[in-house]
Amino acid sequence: MECNAANERRELFSMREKINGENYMEEIVARSNFGGRQKIGTIEWQVMHINSFPEEFREYLGGSLRIIDQTMLPRRLVHTTLFKLEEVVEAIKSLRVRGAPAIGIAAAYGLCTALQTVFYDVGDKVAQPSDEVFFERLEYAASQLASSRPTAVNLFWALDRMTSLARSLRGHKSPLEIAYALVEEARAIHEEDLEMCRSMSRFGSTLVRTGGAYLTHCNAGALATGGYGTALGVFYWAHDEDGKRFKVYADETRPLFQGSRLTSWELQRNGIDVTVICDNMAASIMRREQLDGVFVGADRIAANGDVANKIGTYSVAVNARAHGVPFYVVAPSSTFDLALDTGDSIPIEERSASEVRHGYLYIRDSLSFYEPIIITAPEDVKFYNPAFDVTPSEFITGIITENGIISPVTREAIAEAVGKNRIKEELQKEKRSF
Ligand code: MRU
Repeated sequence: MECNAANERRELFSMREKINGENYMEEIVARSNFGGRQKIGTIEWQVMHINSFPEEFREYLGGSLRIIDQTMLPRRLVHTTLFKLEEVVEAIKSLRVRGAPAIGIAAAYGLCTALQTVFYDVGDKVAQPSDEVFFERLEYAASQLASSRPTAVNLFWALDRMTSLARSLRGHKSPLEIAYALVEEARAIHEEDLEMCRSMSRFGSTLVRTGGAYLTHCNAGALATGGYGTALGVFYWAHDEDGKRFKVYADETRPLFQGSRLTSWELQRNGIDVTVICDNMAASIMRREQLDGVFVGADRIAANGDVANKIGTYSVAVNARAHGVPFYVVAPSSTFDLALDTGDSIPIEERSASEVRHGYLYIRDSLSFYEPIIITAPEDVKFYNPAFDVTPSEFITGIITENGIISPVTREAIAEAVGKNRIKEELQKEKRSF
């Protein structure tokens, strides 16, 4: 079975290589120029011309999602193009695209990718599906994408925004017009995320000083967002815009090493002094050397300020409290879930035991064959692998949002700061004035 699937995938890849006229798994450094600084293009919606596709690919009308495959970093920088709903769902589940805001953006574009199949007709014609067929596909695709990962609320926030827009246009616009409006909405979600990142980063930079030492956990950078970063965005802004020089410790972040594989990779590329440490070294570094602050991202923040983030964040917060180190969470308003009273109701994803037993320590001899090279525990031992934990609000010095710094963290301050989407309104105003 597996072998057939692998063969099919290989065939598909080689066909794509042919139709693109270039290596599908190209290893190029694609950079988007954002805010005067060259950033890695993490997620892109690429428009393709239908006529350049052979018959069997005509169903993919005009667009596809191009991502950096984060499972391949830091060994190789590989861009992958996702043509189908199933490929986008798989990419989110397997963390090829990961990080709360990035998942939301990928899901929004993924929904557009999925909708393309209903416009397919035999021959060269573009079929106009009925409203029923269009909306059935929309709801199906949204539910598939929603089932990919449970904790990051940005996924549900983005899908909800996309489906609400489509429903509001039903009966007023044709399915094709709605599909185009959805591509625009996905682009707006992406653009707003970049703006929110820059705004948070500017506020966060006021908390960074030249000569300071900071710690971060997991990866909350350009890779995890629309292209700039939340916690790492603070470091980029402090370094690039405010000219500060400081050092950053990156927790390696067991079991999947987002800190050592991704955070150190992107900080290093951007000229920031970064040192990787094992997760269990953080407390002793805090005791030995006075750290000036911890900056982390978030996957979901409840109305009372409890924060779900990568497993291990809670221990960092407890250690920070014990050593008098300020602990900051950096997150856009799309990461708040005000419908949840406290962090106790945040769903926590549990992932496979193999991630703890092997991590990414695989030989990857081809696109689909994996061979574990290190086994860290007996085959039949019990494992528990929650991907996230919840840090209670009392451990958090401040939450940095695009609207300012919430400190102290109270329900009232949160409700006020994230009540409205200021960036969306500003971007819409700017567009109107052109
Ligand atoms: O499992 P992951 O790698 O998707 O987890 C990501 C995190 O926990 C990040 O810290 C969080 O999404 C913030 S990203 C700006």
